[in-house]
Amino acid sequence: MSTDPAPNPHATAEQVEAARHDPKLANVLYHDWEAGSYDDKWSISYDERCVSYAADRFRLVAGDTGWPYERALELGCGTGFFLLNLMQAGAATKGSVTDLSPGMVQAALRNAKGLGLDVDGRVADAERIPYDDDSFDLVVGHAVLHHIPDVEGALREVLRVLEPGGRFVFAGEPTMIGDFYARRLGALTWKATTTITKLPALQGWRRPQTELDESSRAAALEALVDIHTFDPADLEAMARRAGAPDARVATEEFAAAMLGWPVRTFEAAVPPGKLGMGWAMFAYRSWQRLSWLDQNLLSRVVPRAWFYNALITGTKPVR
Ligand SMILES: C[S@@+](CC[C@H](N)C(=O)[O-])C[C@H]1O[C@@H](n2cnc3c(N)ncnc32)[C@H](O)[C@@H]1O
Repeated sequence: MSTDPAPNPHATAEQVEAARHDPKLANVLYHDWEAGSYDDKWSISYDERCVSYAADRFRLVAGDTGWPYERALELGCGTGFFLLNLMQAGAATKGSVTDLSPGMVQAALRNAKGLGLDVDGRVADAERIPYDDDSFDLVVGHAVLHHIPDVEGALREVLRVLEPGGRFVFAGEPTMIGDFYARRLGALTWKATTTITKLPALQGWRRPQTELDESSRAAALEALVDIHTFDPADLEAMARRAGAPDARVATEEFAAAMLGWPVRTFEAAVPPGKLGMGWAMFAYRSWQRLSWLDQNLLSRVVPRAWFYNALITGTKPVR
């Protein structure tokens, strides 16, 4: 029987105040709050689009020679985006999803059940993974390392629960330089959209003020949960110190991130459903074209630290 704590999707003002000094509490409050709408907010799906996105991220940094891994663990699973889609792609047979937020673990288990995947789940802090040594042959995470106060400690835990020869893959981590331009582009887009939609002719494009205020409060909490950005070389060195001498970092998305962040911010600033499927496909195709440019041209001339996303992989040494 599960003893996991229950989700708390309605944080009080006092709890939000307390979270200002406690990044883990901020993570639980923010992600419990977001769990119900997270897939919509980030256009997460469990169909071909996200299956190939997840599989491509994995292949980019780690290849697919070990597929399928038998027993995979995900840290900071959110709604299950990375591991569930990797399992659908054939990367792993059995999965365990974990997250600090009870609401997210519930959402991930619900999604896994809907997809008919062999997955169990637990509420867990990545700094103290509640599984025995050598339990998994694969550990994955997407957009989680930058939320963890002690990243090196978490990587040591990852290597502890991996069996010798087992692999870890983390993707979707913001680089220092990428985060700098992405945040500024996002803030500019938010300001421009919420200002221009004050014009009477554009009222239909304006979200009610209460919703915009709620988004601003969520953004304030979001600023508390985003603890780190990474320099690729430093992240690589950290994983090596944690016990993976072969750790290596790849980066991606330069032109694509310059489009992606304004697009995502614009989508959040206008009423849900206003933009429709045509826009979603246009945005996705444009992102794909710019990603192609990043991979095939810009990666040869632009330093890796300038790309927005870092991905890291490594294995536990066989003694
Ligand atoms: C940005 S979300 C990413 C969710 C999902 N992996 C995805 O890509 O859609 C980060 C997730 O990490 C979780 N998280 C934050 N700190 C954590 C920690 N110390 N241990 C485990 N999970 C954590 C959050 O609750 C949240 O669900």
